[in-house]
Amino acid sequence: MVTMKKKSVAAAVSLVVMMISMVEVLGAVAGGVRPSKITRRQVPAVYVFGDSTLDVGNNNYLPGKDVPRANKPYYGIDFPGSKPTGRFSNGYNAADYVAKNLGFDKSPPAYLALKAHNYLVPAALVIGVSYASAGAGILDSTNAGGNIPLSKQVVYFNSTRAEMVAKAGSGVVRDLMAKSFFLVGVGSNDMFAFAAAQQKQNRSATPSEVKAFYAILVSNYSAAITELYGMGARKFGIINVGPVGCVPRVRVANATGACNDGMNQLAAGFDAALRTLLAGLAARLPGLAYSIADSYALTQATFADPLAAGYANADSACCGGGRLGSEGACERGAAVCGDRDRYVFWDSVHPSQQSNKLGAKAYYDGPGQFTSPINFKQLANYKNA
Ligand SMILES: *[C@@H]1O[C@H](CO)[C@@H](O)[C@H](O)[C@H]1NC(C)=O
Ligand SMILES: *[C@@H]1O[C@H](CO)[C@@H](O)[C@H](O)[C@H]1NC(C)=O
Ligand SMILES: *[C@@H]1O[C@H](CO)[C@@H](O)[C@H](O)[C@H]1NC(C)=O
Ligand SMILES: *[C@@H]1O[C@H](CO)[C@@H](O)[C@H](O)[C@H]1NC(C)=O
Repeated sequence: MVTMKKKSVAAAVSLVVMMISMVEVLGAVAGGVRPSKITRRQVPAVYVFGDSTLDVGNNNYLPGKDVPRANKPYYGIDFPGSKPTGRFSNGYNAADYVAKNLGFDKSPPAYLALKAHNYLVPAALVIGVSYASAGAGILDSTNAGGNIPLSKQVVYFNSTRAEMVAKAGSGVVRDLMAKSFFLVGVGSNDMFAFAAAQQKQNRSATPSEVKAFYAILVSNYSAAITELYGMGARKFGIINVGPVGCVPRVRVANATGACNDGMNQLAAGFDAALRTLLAGLAARLPGLAYSIADSYALTQATFADPLAAGYANADSACCGGGRLGSEGACERGAAVCGDRDRYVFWDSVHPSQQSNKLGAKAYYDGPGQFTSPINFKQLANYKNA
């Protein structure tokens, strides 16, 4: 372990995960050898789907030079061991903090890491799996080729589930699915891609183009959730799309550093459609329960009064360079801010560990206006099985 090289970090991480879950499996089998470790969990497992806000290393296993990867300094500078892990943050990401609030150590491991180390099924049965991939969208066309799009994440989950059934039996898996927490956070990349396509043509989208865009997004999001439901998923914690027009990389394109209102409106319109979609699905699919985490409202509240939330800076990247920290990449040699917990943003697009921590706490059991119709804690404890 002492002479461990970078490449074996992932292996070591999975090894540790393996040892922890072995202990937990043995504990469970032996009838509560480590009851505190198990009972403090609100749900038996967490399965994660989405983009870079939730990715814990899947993209490190994807081939290609255009794949976004947080596999180098200063990503992970505040993670235990100060190691880059594939998380697009200085430390833990939103999936980690959601999982922590639910009683886990951190996010479940990345699907491709588990596959690579032949540890998929044991992890899937006792902790969960993360399929989240940086750059992913609701649409397969979003950043195509450089990530695992939502539809493929669902396919990967389907194959994981088949292996779980083969190992543990369909009754066990059905019960596990019904009680587990399905965390989904995706859509920002679709907004960025849509806005970029318009900008490229030097025009703004017509109302009917926006309407058509929402329709395909909702249709594909609906398909993903309905497919997961068909595989037994019942509890969905859905993080909506935040004010993407206010990320430093977008602000820096404006001479005054202002947010792009058009992009924010695009996101807000999608979030409204998402609310309608989920209400419709819940009415149609018996036993489905959901909580929408209102990342949009929470982030806007933070921007309105950063100091109240403990931030000194809400418009710049902590790690990067130039104006708003967004003219240079966050990479070795970049400027890194001193007090990282006082920045809303870690890099020019992604939230800091502190933002992730405060966000997940708000979604778990914070002020009612940031979740609907119930919060993540109520969702976790919802009795449907
Ligand atoms: C929508 O979802 C379907 C099924 O998952 C997928 O085959 C299709 O490519 C998706 N469409 C887009 C535009 O991403
Ligand atoms: C899941 O896998 C089964 C068996 O391979 C297949 O029949 C089904 O269509 C798949 N469902 C989805 C949503 O991928
Ligand atoms: C975009 O439109 C503006 C205003 O009509 C014009 O000044 C500018 O040259 C155009 N840029 C490109 C790249 O077409
Ligand atoms: C910059 O932001 C201001 C304030 O929102 C806006 O009026 C202006 O049109 C923006 N400029 C550009 C080039 O987008």
